[in-house]
Amino acid sequence: MYNIKKFGEVDSLRVTVLMEDYAGYESGYWGSHGIALLLDVKAGGTNKRILLDVGQSFEALMHNMELTGVEPESIDMVFLSHCHYDHTLALADVLEQMNKEIPVVGHPKVLRKNFAVDPFLKEIGAGNKNTPGKLTGLGAQLALVGEPFPLMEGVLSTGEVERTTDFEGRGIGTYNLVDGSLVPDSLVDDMSIIVNLKGKGLFVVSGCSHAGIVNILEHSKKITGIDNIYGVIGGLHLVNADDRVITKTIDGLEGVNPHLVIPGHCTGQKAQYRLREKFGDRYLPMNSGSVFVL
Ligand SMILES: [Fe+2]
Ligand SMILES: [Fe+2]
Repeated sequence: MYNIKKFGEVDSLRVTVLMEDYAGYESGYWGSHGIALLLDVKAGGTNKRILLDVGQSFEALMHNMELTGVEPESIDMVFLSHCHYDHTLALADVLEQMNKEIPVVGHPKVLRKNFAVDPFLKEIGAGNKNTPGKLTGLGAQLALVGEPFPLMEGVLSTGEVERTTDFEGRGIGTYNLVDGSLVPDSLVDDMSIIVNLKGKGLFVVSGCSHAGIVNILEHSKKITGIDNIYGVIGGLHLVNADDRVITKTIDGLEGVNPHLVIPGHCTGQKAQYRLREKFGDRYLPMNSGSVFVL
């Protein structure tokens, strides 16, 4: 197992929201259900571009990348936060555009079939274009690891997240296909990226937070031994949560006391409103095209 004591730290991080559900007011960017977050990381003499998720719409991603001036081939690594199509579907097309060998990091189960049955049965995973064989053929160097895993100096995958709270991380009613049976799924493949910002603390980048954002932040503290959470960006998947769960999540976040909360994608309007109320200046909105320099 990787020795987390070697984790290290980064000098600077720039997060560009290449795509998410919404484009801002008078924006030329396109919104598309899903998320794609570009991390420009500087650590020592190393500058790397890591793309967390690719979204479902290749056209929207390419449109937004052109506006931000990001060339697909300039990306050094792709990280898949979990299996769902709104994070993974465009992968094969993006790899084709990158036209090179590139590490693709995710959980060992990230490319499984995942089924929703409500309101009707459909497969909501990465889809038939994104099988391991096809992705490898397009240059993906699949690094499918369920443990905390180093991406570069000061940047770590959470690996599978320990579910410790009683109000999150139980799945969203989807099923896996196992030996011909539909088996309830808890989205064990949900993983986030932890960046250790020099002099600031941990900044956590999440796709949907299906493991639960409080679980993810507590897990990040536990595996790194660093208690200071500087901030978090990503989907918090509270879109269908009731008031009780939203309240418990906000209480849990307050307990972790991040300096910045930047929720998007599947967070949902009600939770967004309450997070903004609670965190005030520490809350930042995000849309397609937003840039955060940390
Ligand atoms: Fe999801
Ligand atoms: Fe999502």
